[in-house]
Amino acid sequence: LIAFVQPKLLAGKRLLITAGPTFEPIDPVRGITNRSSGKMGFALARAAAEAGAEVTLVAGPVHLATPHGVRRIDVQTALQMHEAVLPRAAAHDIFIATAAVADWRPATMNEHKIKKDKSPDAPKSAPVFELTENPDILAAVAALPDKPFCVGFAAESQDLIKHARDKLQRKGVPLIVGNLGPATFGRDDNALVLVDADGERHLPADGQARDKLSLARELVADIARRLHAS
Ligand code: CTP
Ligand code: CA
Repeated sequence: LIAFVQPKLLAGKRLLITAGPTFEPIDPVRGITNRSSGKMGFALARAAAEAGAEVTLVAGPVHLATPHGVRRIDVQTALQMHEAVLPRAAAHDIFIATAAVADWRPATMNEHKIKKDKSPDAPKSAPVFELTENPDILAAVAALPDKPFCVGFAAESQDLIKHARDKLQRKGVPLIVGNLGPATFGRDDNALVLVDADGERHLPADGQARDKLSLARELVADIARRLHAS
């Protein structure tokens, strides 16, 4: 019954969202990844679908159930995420980048598992990996002529507001959402700070950690207001 009396804030809107980590292979059995759980992105996808949006979720490797009514595209690497997002972005009203995209990938992928012992009498040395930078998916979407309303996320270990402001400029997006607190990865609760050209707003207002789904619902309502005002 609640569903009928609640206003559908994103009715008729199309929303594209990235979530989770990416996995960058070194060889067939190893790779580089990070500790993103994808929980905040999946909570946002669910909240947006509840708000009436048509939601496409591009997910890195995570162990989470697809929210009801959400279309999901699974990827592994940053390049695959870029390929899934870029051709679809302009057909959407909103793009939210919550994914913790690996900033670098191994420059070469070894076809076979790298072995410790190459030959019995060769001197043992640890391998050295050359890395190459991944494309910035959010910046690429924000540079499209027909761009959707773009929202970025930032997780920092220090100077959150300063870095969030810097990312607002560098990526050319109207809103960056900062994760407060040093250890939000993998947790069920979080506290956010919304950074835009005008200032900062804490979600929740008291700055105390709250469960990610209630935060996601409030953030969706905030983004809907911004979309209607823009
Ligand atoms: N992002 C992206 N593609 C990348 C890197 C980041 O889409 N290759 C997005 C993230 O999903 C996030 C925002 O950009 O919404 C900020 O990511 P972050 O890692 O904080 O910023 P970087 O520009 O990578 O800077 P750094 O990691 O050095 O802080
Ligand atoms: Ca990064």
